[in-house]
Amino acid sequence: MSSLIRPQRDSQGFRLECRLVRKTDMRRVDHVMGADLNTQVGNRIKQRRAVVKMDQAALATKLDVPVSVVRGWESGSPEEPLDLTGLAGVAAALSTSIADLVPAPEDDLTDGVRLQLPEEDSSVVGRRGGMDYYVYRSLVRSPSVPMLVPLVVDVLVDDPERAEFNGGHAAHEFIYVMEGSVHMQWGDETAPKTADLPTGASIYISPHVSHTFTALGGRNARLLSVNF
Ligand SMILES: [Fe+2]
Repeated sequence: MSSLIRPQRDSQGFRLECRLVRKTDMRRVDHVMGADLNTQVGNRIKQRRAVVKMDQAALATKLDVPVSVVRGWESGSPEEPLDLTGLAGVAAALSTSIADLVPAPEDDLTDGVRLQLPEEDSSVVGRRGGMDYYVYRSLVRSPSVPMLVPLVVDVLVDDPERAEFNGGHAAHEFIYVMEGSVHMQWGDETAPKTADLPTGASIYISPHVSHTFTALGGRNARLLSVNF
């Protein structure tokens, strides 16, 4: 396992202090980003161009590039490689999305199942308001269902006065209180709704509803969080 120090924001707007990348994930990235990526993108451009009944010259004219450049893209050995902006331009010219022009993620299921052992989990600290606020442990995921993001979340802060809202996130969320109890606040941050929830409680949160949890009883709490 390799560890990358890469400050960034997660889907909930938290600054991630550290990201652990498994070697299996890196191999998958190598496969997708390898030399055959240009060929796969080129084939997809060619297929889409055929669907919308546009020849290479018409696409070149639309993008204001020489036809040789389009030919290069489609052959997978471009004289001028496509960057993200270029790919967005091609997608727009072909009335489609970038996602339609890049290969789908490799299926990582074995007869429909993906297993992840505890030692393969990765953890990050989510910081809010200058505090270590949550610890996220990432459970099994699959590119087959990219919206499904299950996490175990340790709630570190036990003072509701120091609660920091997340501003909401795009995913639906199911939460189960695994250990301890939590104080939940949600909605308007200046006048939030609140609830105290014991072990065994479960919660559904709609997309874009700002929310936060602090621990009750002077001890950390642990949540199972499933974003979907
Ligand atoms: Fe959330």
